Amino acid sequence: MRTQVVIVGAGPSGLLLGQLLSVHGIANVILEQRSPEYVLDRIRAGVIEKWAADLLDDAGAGARMHREGLVHQGIEISFDGRRHRVDFDALVGKSVIVYGQAEITRDLMEARAAVGAETYYEIADVSLQLDQPGRSSVRYGRHGRVQEIQCDFIAGCDGFHGISRKSIPEHVLNCYERVYPFGWLGILVDQPPVSPELIYVNHERGFALCSMRSPTRSRLYLQCRLDDHIEDWPDARFYEELSRRLDPHAVGALHRGASIEKSIAPLRSFVAEPMRYGNLFLAGDAAHIVPPTGAKGLNLAASDVYYLWQALLEYYRERSAAGLEAYSSQALRRVWKAERFSWWMTSILHCFPESSGFDQKMQRAELEYLLSSRAAMTALAENYVGLPY
Ligand code: FAD
Ligand code: PHB
Repeated sequence: MRTQVVIVGAGPSGLLLGQLLSVHGIANVILEQRSPEYVLDRIRAGVIEKWAADLLDDAGAGARMHREGLVHQGIEISFDGRRHRVDFDALVGKSVIVYGQAEITRDLMEARAAVGAETYYEIADVSLQLDQPGRSSVRYGRHGRVQEIQCDFIAGCDGFHGISRKSIPEHVLNCYERVYPFGWLGILVDQPPVSPELIYVNHERGFALCSMRSPTRSRLYLQCRLDDHIEDWPDARFYEELSRRLDPHAVGALHRGASIEKSIAPLRSFVAEPMRYGNLFLAGDAAHIVPPTGAKGLNLAASDVYYLWQALLEYYRERSAAGLEAYSSQALRRVWKAERFSWWMTSILHCFPESSGFDQKMQRAELEYLLSSRAAMTALAENYVGLPY
């Protein structure tokens, strides 16, 4: 079997790249180790930059997002029990769309099915053959048999735990990492949001976030300990703790419905450089991770996909490898800026168990400055809505 591009992973990066390539006539096959139901059940990102939304439109998969997504022109930051609005529209003239990652994934899966492109789900033991320049192939197990696809290029879109990054020799990669000493405990609940916009909470008991998926579905998060287990957090305890961290007005608006999903996510910053090895190109979480505080993970996956898609188009249309040569450095420039923003948002909003009195004073000063300075709020808004591609 032969195709032009093999894509490993059918998360948002793999599906978006596949769709952009398919609608521009570049043949591709996606290999995914899980079932479609499993991929759709993962509750993750919720905030989409305009840039990423435009790319979904380019892929012909944006119609439902425009119908059902919620356009948000600001966020609120709760500090010392008071809420402060960051007005994106007034500060930078832009907005974001609140629309769940699972919905984007569903829209991309349907768009892919409509163009008849192949995705093989529940495949096993993917291995990449990268040694011979210009002759790549991918082996995998399907229906109990080992199969092989020859291709021009491989896109490693298989997330942080995938095999693509691990297939690059260690001496070639430089990895940069920070692991944070806490996690996020999240619940999904079929109750209206606490407030029309997202509330990011700095509180002495720890960070909290009130987000949403729709006017009738809330997504709520609490900073938790790394050794916490979801069994330790029945809904009643979750709501009690959230109420302690929210301002009284928000507590009054909190609907304590039964959770329909509950999970704990550790927080990490990670970048692997370069994002290319021969004919293998990494995109999305396979190459980098951000803590979710800046809502950047999915959006960074989209910008990687944009650069890679453009480079592949240039290669097939003009027989020029210039875009492919530039891919890693171009993508990494945007990655590092989003890493910085996510790390900074995390550092100003969370309680760090090891922080000294001085560190705590610095965090206070940072927040007081941010919330009193139009210049500082503009910098936050500019990064939150997403830097241009
Ligand atoms: P993934 O979604 O991880 O997809 C990779 C795919 O590859 C998976 O389907 C996996 O099954 C498959 N795979 C793995 N290994 C193999 C293999 N060996 N063979 C074949 N397939 C394989 N981002 C935002 O932008 N905004 C937010 O608001 C936001 N909130 C978040 C909240 C939480 C709690 C979390 C955990 C993340 C959040 N993110 C957010 C981050 C976002 O979800 C990720 O950045 C995004 O999923 C990355 O997409 P991806 O396709 O690169 O990787
Ligand atoms: C979410 O809705 O899941 C969400 C929103 C904003 C974030 C992180 C997660 O910063």
